[in-house]
Amino acid sequence: MEHWIAPSILAADFSRLGDEIRTVLSAGADLIHFDVMDNHYVPNLTIGPLVLKSLRKAGIDCQMDVHLMVKPVDRLVGDFLNAGADIITIHPESTEHLHRTLCLIREGGAKAGIVFNPATPLTVLPEVINLVDLVLVMSVNPGFGGQAFINSSIDKLKAARAIIDTSGRSVRLEIDGGIKASNIGAVARAGADTFVAGSAIFGSDDYAATISAMRAELG
Ligand code: DX5
Ligand code: ZN
Repeated sequence: MEHWIAPSILAADFSRLGDEIRTVLSAGADLIHFDVMDNHYVPNLTIGPLVLKSLRKAGIDCQMDVHLMVKPVDRLVGDFLNAGADIITIHPESTEHLHRTLCLIREGGAKAGIVFNPATPLTVLPEVINLVDLVLVMSVNPGFGGQAFINSSIDKLKAARAIIDTSGRSVRLEIDGGIKASNIGAVARAGADTFVAGSAIFGSDDYAATISAMRAELG
């Protein structure tokens, strides 16, 4: 599968969000990762569907990868579908009925993703693999950008890759948290094909140079 680099706008300058997104797309980003936090499921508060809607209205038509760190989650799924999300990714801990929530996303016309925190086992993955288009492995605890990569994520990626391959389905494997040029090669070798990076990209002086340096590690 083609490698995709997904800058997380959590690390962007929110006072110039539209410009930041246009700049990072022209610097070579494949899609935009949109982190939604509610100060309940995670101890931080970010942005909601209104922000996505206004980016769409401003003509930003790239693929939007919406990572929902909110509980409860079902009502916001509808709001993000209406706002123009392409991929909606949810944590199993944020819903009482995982099957129903994944179906809601797909019936709404978006791709559905499931996210595993560092301490969450992959146990439910085989049960829902036919309902997902993307599996996201968190390599930090969700809630903040700029945290250090947790090494056990490498083994979790390999295990998730094996479950995806056994299913025979075309499912993306995404990694999120502490990704930079120095570790992107290792996570790719463990099976990841989609790479979220917030501070590594938006914290750099030259987004294009940073994205190129990451791609160079992907071979
Ligand atoms: C954490 C978010 C990440 C975060 C990644 O809860 O899901 O997407 O923004 O940021 P960096 O790349 O700075 O670790
Ligand atoms: Zn994220």
